[in-house]
Amino acid sequence: MLRSTHAVVHLPAFLKNIRLAKRRLKPETKFLAVIKANAYGHGITVVGEYLEQSGLVDMFAVAIPEEGVRLRNYGITLPILILGVTDPDHIPAVVGNELTSSVFTAKQVRNFERCAVASGKTAHVHVKLDTGMHRIGVTDDAMLDELLDAFDACPHVSMDGVFTHFAKSESDPAFTHLQAQRFDAFVARIRARGYRPIVHAANSAATLDFPELQYDMVRFGIALYGYHPDAKRTEGSGLTPVMSLITYISNLKTIPAGEGVSYGLKFVASRPTRVATLPVGYGDGYKRCLTGKTDVLIGGIRCPQIGTICMDQMMVDVSEVPGVAIGDEAVLIGRQGDEKITADDLAEKADTISYEILLSFSDRVPRVYEK
Ligand SMILES: Cc1ncc(COP(=O)(O)O)c(C=O)c1O
Repeated sequence: MLRSTHAVVHLPAFLKNIRLAKRRLKPETKFLAVIKANAYGHGITVVGEYLEQSGLVDMFAVAIPEEGVRLRNYGITLPILILGVTDPDHIPAVVGNELTSSVFTAKQVRNFERCAVASGKTAHVHVKLDTGMHRIGVTDDAMLDELLDAFDACPHVSMDGVFTHFAKSESDPAFTHLQAQRFDAFVARIRARGYRPIVHAANSAATLDFPELQYDMVRFGIALYGYHPDAKRTEGSGLTPVMSLITYISNLKTIPAGEGVSYGLKFVASRPTRVATLPVGYGDGYKRCLTGKTDVLIGGIRCPQIGTICMDQMMVDVSEVPGVAIGDEAVLIGRQGDEKITADDLAEKADTISYEILLSFSDRVPRVYEK
């Protein structure tokens, strides 16, 4: 039984977006697909499997060990990098499942060494370098030297990679290049100690805009899902949004002028109004703060959303849609006829970014995969 409100994930769009990125990269540059946070709301296991089978991806990144373990349990065999901090309690699961952790302190390296020795395995890690984001990572040379001493003393911990993360790559080339300079200095210090890890820095924005910063691998996140990190540039980027959000009209009525709609009766009809009810609300992740600000596509026409968005339902004004009927398709994100609504559109109205819109849809919105 498929719920009428569902997200359509058009899998081939991933391949188009990856190929578009790869046209900017050297053939030997590795490609990491960021599939944390349930693949930005698209469904981590199905997306992981599809991308692994595509042969276009060399590595995955997730945020936390649980996401990596979930992928392994699903049968994903590609290397998986955990971008966040691994709790000491989770190290056995990380090493046991052959996940790659980020590390940046000597203590973390020693914790991995202990677990690797106890389990007879090698622990694989990438060193995180903080070059300006100031979230996690090695902050200075003294901290780096202490970390490298720990690596020297921990032969069961393999430094497979080193990386940093850009704070403003969608909007500030000068700061991005300053971060790259700091990164290069850290990397030179690591190489001088005899280590030869793979080097990576570029997120989607840097992958698309700064080919000179591709290093050995890029980490492609939001653009994989069809959105440019700078909303103003999604249009014209050539990227294809992967997810649509669809529902169907569940009820229809005409109200006279002067009648209100939904909680608080904040919308009051100024003329006789044909009102359609849709079975979708903030319980599905369609944010309540969008009340009165968005449109929905019905019959190829942009229909204004009216009245407070409820937990499970919301109303739209379909007065302009000829022959509108219960059961008609309503597109919340996606295309219908010549019209389209994107996650960037909703993000602008909710004062957020496409990332948050895409991954806000709850578990009760089934993801339907199109091959
Ligand atoms: C460390 C790291 N690398 C790469 C990415 C991907 O960034 P984007 O989605 O902007 O491509 C993220 C996303 O938050 C990240 O935290």
